[in-house]
Amino acid sequence: MVLFRSVSALSKLRSRLAQQSYSLGSIRWLQVQSATDVDLHSQLKELIPEQQERLKKLKSEHGKVQLGNITADMVIGGMRGMTGLLWETSLLDPDEVHFLSSIDNLGIRFRGLSIPECQKLLPAAKDAGEPLPEGLLWLLLTGKVPNKEQVDGLSAELCSRAKVPDHVFKAIDSLPVAAHPMTQFATGVMALQVDSEFQKAYEKGMPKAKFWEPTYEDSMNLIARLPSVASYIYRRIYKDGGIIPADSSLDYAANFSHMLGYDDPKMLELMRLYITIHSDHEGGNVSAHTAHLVGSALSDPYLSFAAALNGLAGPLHGLANQEVLLWIESLVKECGEDITTDQLKDYVWKTLKSGKRTRVTNLKFKHCLQVVPGYGHGVLRKTDPRYTCQREFALKHLPHDPLFKLVSKLYEVVPPILTELGKVKNPWPNVDAHSGVLLKYFGLSEARYYTVLFGVSRSIGIGSQLIWDRALGLPLERPKSVTMDWLESYCKKAA
Ligand SMILES: CC(C)(COP(=O)(O)OP(=O)(O)OC[C@H]1O[C@@H](n2cnc3c(N)ncnc32)[C@H](O)[C@@H]1OP(=O)(O)O)[C@@H](O)C(=O)NCCC(=O)NCCS
Repeated sequence: MVLFRSVSALSKLRSRLAQQSYSLGSIRWLQVQSATDVDLHSQLKELIPEQQERLKKLKSEHGKVQLGNITADMVIGGMRGMTGLLWETSLLDPDEVHFLSSIDNLGIRFRGLSIPECQKLLPAAKDAGEPLPEGLLWLLLTGKVPNKEQVDGLSAELCSRAKVPDHVFKAIDSLPVAAHPMTQFATGVMALQVDSEFQKAYEKGMPKAKFWEPTYEDSMNLIARLPSVASYIYRRIYKDGGIIPADSSLDYAANFSHMLGYDDPKMLELMRLYITIHSDHEGGNVSAHTAHLVGSALSDPYLSFAAALNGLAGPLHGLANQEVLLWIESLVKECGEDITTDQLKDYVWKTLKSGKRTRVTNLKFKHCLQVVPGYGHGVLRKTDPRYTCQREFALKHLPHDPLFKLVSKLYEVVPPILTELGKVKNPWPNVDAHSGVLLKYFGLSEARYYTVLFGVSRSIGIGSQLIWDRALGLPLERPKSVTMDWLESYCKKAA
């Protein structure tokens, strides 16, 4: 009877997915895996010729279709809204609204699946638990939802690739302990590059059609090795170098949390969610785009990912998670945890005015912000779904935490103020507005380290797309730039 029920539930799920894959278009090859399906590498080998053919057809049949007009504003404004990249693993919809539940925005889709759908469909470590990032890696690479057995196999594969050579730790040790964790992380990734399979194969000579295979090896090795490198940096800086060895019985995220020194089962769940949701976010954001650009020069995945990390380390991008917690801590220092709404509004206004020549005397946060960290987005125009799922996690696991309550209060106070400014296109919170208070609740309170966690996760999205970049033979990226003289004279002629 139980068997019958679970078989029937599975077939309902499959038929739901089949409908979704039909209606969503972009996930034409989404399906639940059967236990007999081949391993990840062999699956890719099967999928690649089909997708190469699809791209060839798209180019020959529709290559001249226009995708919109480029305005002078777009050229001056950092290419906002300009469609100009192929990125297979995820897609953003600025305004997508959930039609059923309290979740007000789905916004990002990983191979067609929203975050709530990933939470439902991807295998978890326990019943109704958070998705395992290995499952997301499988989904991003193949467009298919793996079963638990396949995810466990992938965990084991990553574990078998995880050994980090000694010279990597030595390279990190050559930096002052006070160096920013992201500097140490990028240095560690560059040291890992010494083992690049792509570089070796390229030097030996290999046909273009084979480029994806050493890219696969490098990307998988990179993803597998990052938790050891990242946790080494954490323990070196904050725990006097007391390294914790890996535990091969754990999944990827749980093992990472364990090596950092955090074994609370709820923290392991948080880490699974964290690594899943920070992995990929379309191709135009600074870190993803940087990796794609550098990779387009046939730089190997280590070189491409190290470049991406340097972009992630900027305060308008990944470093915002550090800035949010430092900003919240400074707020609490100044006003206490039981801050009133008026005090909060005051603090937000002071932050916004901090970069201008106004008489702001008592703002303790010393960074040159001028923006409210954790709010706004280059593409999304609603609350970031990654914020929403972290909020749901907090409501489930730490509803009475004072800092969580403060984050919730900020959600009420900040958007109207940013709207009042009149220039902010999206006054709603993004992923970084929430992550810090969750990590701090479980003891991981060193804000300067947070962007490294983001970086570990991002390797999953970037690595997956780099494999597809090489499989599809995407060319060198080379947009055209112009000077102000050129733009002025072109616009005058066009007027
Ligand atoms: C993410 C971010 C860089 C997007 O930038 P963008 O695409 O240029 O955003 P907008 O088009 O809405 O920017 C228009 C104006 O509003 C300002 N603005 C945007 N978000 C703001 C915020 N959170 N606080 C104050 N001002 C903000 C911009 O600085 C810009 O001002 P300017 O014209 O004086 O230069 C921006 O929202 C930001 O700086 N947010 C805070 C940092 C952050 O959380 N980053 C993580 C992003 S996931």
